[in-house]
Amino acid sequence: MVPIGTIFYFNPFHFSLCFAHRILGTKSMNIVVLGPGAIGSLWAIHLKKAGHNVSLWGNKTQSTDSIQLEDKPPILFDNRNTQALSQADLVLVTVKVWQVEHAIKPIIQHLDSDCMLMFMHNGMGAVDRIYHLVEQHPVLLATTTHGAFRPSANRVNHTGLGQTQVGAFNDKAQQCEFIADVLNHAQPEVFWNQNIKQALWQKLVVNCAINPLTGIEQCQNGQLANQEYQTTIEKVVSECADVMNADGFKADKQTLLDTVRKVIVATGKNYSSMYQDVFYNRTTEIDFITGYLLERAKCLHIATPVNAELYQQIKAKELSEN
Ligand SMILES: NC(=O)c1ccc[n+]([C@@H]2O[C@H](COP(=O)([O-])OP(=O)(O)OC[C@H]3O[C@@H](n4cnc5c(N)ncnc54)[C@H](OP(=O)(O)O)[C@@H]3O)[C@@H](O)[C@H]2O)c1
Repeated sequence: MVPIGTIFYFNPFHFSLCFAHRILGTKSMNIVVLGPGAIGSLWAIHLKKAGHNVSLWGNKTQSTDSIQLEDKPPILFDNRNTQALSQADLVLVTVKVWQVEHAIKPIIQHLDSDCMLMFMHNGMGAVDRIYHLVEQHPVLLATTTHGAFRPSANRVNHTGLGQTQVGAFNDKAQQCEFIADVLNHAQPEVFWNQNIKQALWQKLVVNCAINPLTGIEQCQNGQLANQEYQTTIEKVVSECADVMNADGFKADKQTLLDTVRKVIVATGKNYSSMYQDVFYNRTTEIDFITGYLLERAKCLHIATPVNAELYQQIKAKELSEN
């Protein structure tokens, strides 16, 4: 484990000149985690242990908050500190995808325009919707396969090791490749991806195939390996591939289907986030997963009846629960 106070590693060849003076000057970055839930808490702890000045911006109004990683001693963080926002080099946004707009609006006025914004969530389309609010910032997108679970408000369990991919959403973020090294030092493995939207689309296809079905059937991911689901999964993936191709992204149906099947087996014992959201009567991320697919399909005049049916079934569950 990296002791607190350790200075993180920078690859100088990846280092952005724009931010170099600020970050080298302080030897660590000022980072705010906006939405310190399961995934955000995990990153907050690992970034703090890697020597960064990390503070939280959560829903709770108290000025400090502690997080405990498994049975390790709790770590205390500042919470909702506007000075931390004004000094931030990076805001890591880890709210659920449908919470992005509501979370970003009240904080954006406090940030320096050089402050990087990194959105790490499932689903697509949320950043497009709020881009007019954040366009002066370097905007980054990230996707992770780490698993995190919050058994209680101040505790997080790291339920599965994974990988994280980061890439630029706008031109200003093209010079921020160094941030992958910073994150990699805190919680490996992190890669810079020049085509992050391709990676997000591939994750979206996996989510379109697994999340709604497990939410509707209220089953573990592994149950989707049963024969009865294969036709639906094949059709979901085929429709997704058609939309991806029409949208200008690379998509091979068989490769995507193989990936979905591998994820079903590898995460067989897991309960997907949509399963959990349906189970606990919470708003799901369907509007930015299957909903995003349907939106792009409509624009591109592609038929997606099977995905549309799954979307309707999850929306019906959301409505009946609220
Ligand atoms: N958990 C995983 O293993 C995992 C893995 C890969 C990807 N993801 C994705 O990562 C994203 C986050 O997932 P998660 O499981 O970490 O969700 P989560 O535990 O619900 O975390 C979201 C956090 O954001 C807080 N929040 C909501 N609105 C806010 C606001 N306006 N201002 C400040 N904080 C706000 C929530 O507070 P409250 O607690 O008060 O609601 C919660 O602490 C999702 O898109 C998910 O699909 C999760």
